[in-house]
This record gives sequence, C-alpha cells and structure tokens, in this order.
Amino acid sequence: MSKVFAVISGKGGVGKTTTSANLSIATAKEGKKTVVVDFDLGQRNLDMILGLENRVVYDITHVMDEEANLKQALIKDKNIDNLYFLAASQTKDKSVLNEEKVEKLINMLKDEGFEFIFLDSPAGIESGFEHTILFADSAIVVVNPEVSSIRDSDKVIGLVDAKSKKAKEGKSVKKYLIINRINPELIAKGEMLQSEDILEILSIPLLGKVPEDQKVIDASNKGKPVILNPDSLAGRAYERIGKRLCGEDIPFEDVESIKNKGFLSKLAGIFK
Ligand SMILES: Nc1ncnc2c1ncn2[C@@H]1O[C@H](COP(=O)(O)OP(=O)(O)OP(=O)(O)O)[C@@H](O)[C@H]1O
Ligand SMILES: [Mg+2]
Repeated sequence: MSKVFAVISGKGGVGKTTTSANLSIATAKEGKKTVVVDFDLGQRNLDMILGLENRVVYDITHVMDEEANLKQALIKDKNIDNLYFLAASQTKDKSVLNEEKVEKLINMLKDEGFEFIFLDSPAGIESGFEHTILFADSAIVVVNPEVSSIRDSDKVIGLVDAKSKKAKEGKSVKKYLIINRINPELIAKGEMLQSEDILEILSIPLLGKVPEDQKVIDASNKGKPVILNPDSLAGRAYERIGKRLCGEDIPFEDVESIKNKGFLSKLAGIFK
C-alpha cells in the first residue's frame, strides 16, 4: 500500500525541502521503498540537497508528457538502497501542471510499488502546494517557531481539505506538524514560541520537533543530507520522525531546553 505525503508550509523557506530529503532517507533506511518528488518547478533544490544534481536527465514533466517513461526518469540514490528521486523541471514553471497530469504521475508511482511517496511543495499559499495536496493521503505541515510562519500555516491547514481530492470524496486527509529550527537559547530568553503554544494554535498532531542545527546548512552545501551525519541533533530528530511514519511509537525528545542541548549533542556523538 502506498502512502502519499505532501510536504507543505504557509511561509516559504521553513525547511520543506530539507524535511522531504531527510524523511525520504529515513523511511528508505527503515527498508521501505521510497520516492521523493520535487514539485518545485523552476527551482530544483532537492537534487542539490540529495547530491544528485548531475544525474538528472529527465524530470516529472517529461514523464507526465510521455516524453520519457518513469523508469528513465527515476534516479536511484547513490548511497541509500530503496530510495529514488524524481526531479522538477528547471525550465518549465508550475503552470504546466494540471490535475490529470499529477494524477497520472502519482498512479505510476503507486504502480511502481513505492510504499512512501514524498512530494516536496513549492512555497506559497495561492498556487504553490495545491498540486501536491490533490492526491495526497497526508499533509506534513512544516513550521518555524515564529508568529508569521504559524499564521500562514493556519491558512494552509484550512486549505488542505478544500484542495484535496480525498476530501471532495468525503474522506479525510491526515495532517501532521513538524516544528523545525527550534532554538533552545531563544526559547529560554522568551524570544521564540514554545511547541505547546504552537500546537494549541494549530491543533493538528505533532509528528516531530527538529532543532536549529548549523550541520543542516553544511549538509545541504555538501549534498549529503544531515540525517547521514551521526553527530547532528537535527539528523537524529529526522530519524525519529521517519520511524514514527513507519508506525513505531517513538517518544518526543525535549529539544527545547538548553541543558538537554549539551547532553543530546554528546549522546549523538557517542552513538556514531
Ligand atoms: N533545522 C535546521 N537548522 C538550520 N538550518 C535549517 C534547518 N532546516 C532548514 N534549514 C535551512 O533553511 C533554509 C531553507 O530550507 P529549505 O530549502 O528546506 O526550505 P523550504 O521550505 O523548502 O524553502 P522554499 O519555500 O523556498 O522551498 C536552507 O538554507 C536550510 O539549510
Ligand atoms: Mg523548498
């Protein structure tokens, strides 16, 4: 059975692509056949984060327009078994997408036997995430702990059901929250929103909390996602989220307190 996850946000730049890359590695490492699809047409960031930019020949629009078949366009990850990537077009923008084309692509991926299908959305409420949400079973809403991000996410959560096919058929689309870039120092100073407050405002289930971590930025630059760095707290957080998506009952770590930051860093270093 395939599960289709749309990774969305209200405000841009909150970590959707980072989350898509790391979660797809996480579920693939759990032994699930996984594909991560870049729906951010015209941008193409996911291939860089995964370190696969030189391998892109065909992209999703070639598959949708039958200029290439799915097998030609799927790029197998260099290091991770079970992980495949489908690139966005760099030359075409999202106006080339429509409901039929997206449905055809998602059905092809399901027929190919992918258990986890992650769709990385572009930024923007108006015309960004709607194609990824059309045929999704679940929406993973990524937020940063700041007022503007929370306000825009609330709008997006409201739009998920309005835009999804599942909701039109009377079924529900699951919604999950990832709070990304949590900074314990700023929380201690009262300059950053706490998770409990965010959960109260948005009232969708928490999937995971990811700390602010310089290693995420280093990892993106190297094309080797942070989950592959055993010293990274953000990497460990993504690993736990991946296990949750695979059905494991993993407790939520307290990534918000300063004293735990030092302790957890040491722990991440020990379990290399
Ligand atoms: N936990 C984190 N700690 C530190 N930096 C992070 C973290 N998560 C993401 N970033 C950085 O934030 C920036 C934006 O991340 P990313 O590209 O994943 O966001 P996005 O939501 O996909 O953006 P867009 O809306 O433009 O598609 C990147 O430079 C990334 O490295
Ligand atoms: Mg992105």
